[in-house]
Amino acid sequence: MDSLPLDELTAAIRRNGLVRFLEQYEKSHPDLHLKDLSVEALDDDRGMWVNGRRVVNFGSDSFLGLDRHPRILAALRRGVEKWGAHNGTSRAFSSVEANVEAEAKLARWLGVEDTLIYPSVTLTNLGAIPALVGRQDLVLCDQLGHHSLQEGMRLAQAAGAKTGLFPHADPEKLRLALDEAGPYRLALVCVDGIYSMSGTVPPLAELDRVCRERRAILYVDDAHAMGVHGPRGRGTALAHIPDPSNTLVVGSLSKAFSCFGGFISCSRELKKILKMRSSSFVFGGPVPPAYLEAVCEACDIMESVEFMRLSGLLARNIRLLVEGLAERGINCLGGGTPIVTVLVGDEEDALRAGKTLFDLGYYVQSVTFPAVEYHRAVLRLQVNSNHRESDVQGLAESVASALGKLHEKKRAA
Ligand SMILES: Cc1ncc(COP(=O)(O)O)c(C=O)c1O
Repeated sequence: MDSLPLDELTAAIRRNGLVRFLEQYEKSHPDLHLKDLSVEALDDDRGMWVNGRRVVNFGSDSFLGLDRHPRILAALRRGVEKWGAHNGTSRAFSSVEANVEAEAKLARWLGVEDTLIYPSVTLTNLGAIPALVGRQDLVLCDQLGHHSLQEGMRLAQAAGAKTGLFPHADPEKLRLALDEAGPYRLALVCVDGIYSMSGTVPPLAELDRVCRERRAILYVDDAHAMGVHGPRGRGTALAHIPDPSNTLVVGSLSKAFSCFGGFISCSRELKKILKMRSSSFVFGGPVPPAYLEAVCEACDIMESVEFMRLSGLLARNIRLLVEGLAERGINCLGGGTPIVTVLVGDEEDALRAGKTLFDLGYYVQSVTFPAVEYHRAVLRLQVNSNHRESDVQGLAESVASALGKLHEKKRAA
């Protein structure tokens, strides 16, 4: 029988450069390749069971440990009792009250006029960026901006907007890029608040200044910062931009909030327009209602002394890790946020160091191309409030030992 078109298609896309590159890694390093792990159980101290063995998980974005918090778990249970598993309709038709309340609570906590919730940050960026611009406008994205910002920009481009990248976190080069890309009616400049692979914060006040001078709006994807960075955990934009009224801030409800979804800060007027123009909002389903009840509870936690307790533990753990690494001669990128990144360089070395750490009882993420530039592979250590002090100290020591092993191997070769 002739092969089916679907089989031919599968064979053809297997020949794609990226697929070949990743498959080659899987084949050449089957023992190092800690991707696609199947997790059997979790505990309250970030224990994670894989193949019957407990390792401490330093790969979670639930920075405040709210994923195990009794108040969040109780809100989810209440939500399921009240609303069932899912209401199953696009919000273009209706929204459950919990959604309306969650948006109002987020706005109150941030001190902004309103917010609009989407089912994820990816869907926020894919929905909002093309919705915010027209054919006469320009979208520029930081060259290391999150993939979903760049995808949102491509959708805007497909609808006729001019687009481009500008050099990473560089306000002067942004100014040049805006000048070169003109004329335009208005520009949208997209950046991350905390870069997810380096844990660094860009110079937001300077970027905002350039935007104002060049008829541009700053769009900050603050997925990793919301709930953990700056006064009251309100993120990088509100912490570093003196007057954020020309800034749109996107936050995650799936990371520090440990619930589900993404949102954008906006005026009431803009919210109405985004609800009409964001395809991911109109044509897709919403966050399940029980999770919206949990978002409301998380907002209450953010406004309470419990937040101070949790963020205090997080700050202590970040400090312990960064100092523990520095004492052992290891510099990290960033260092002031819960994403602590150690640059390794070579892809195989990063995978090998990750595997050594795993064998020592710590799970961290070895991040390689294409998530980072080629030969800029990193170990990404995500610090949480509910990591035990002894585990954070143990991780610093084990990172030093894993990197030491790599150096020994190189010397012997
Ligand atoms: C900056 C940034 N934006 C967007 C996302 C994607 O978020 P979501 O999983 O909600 O789509 C991430 C995920 O890590 C991120 O780091």
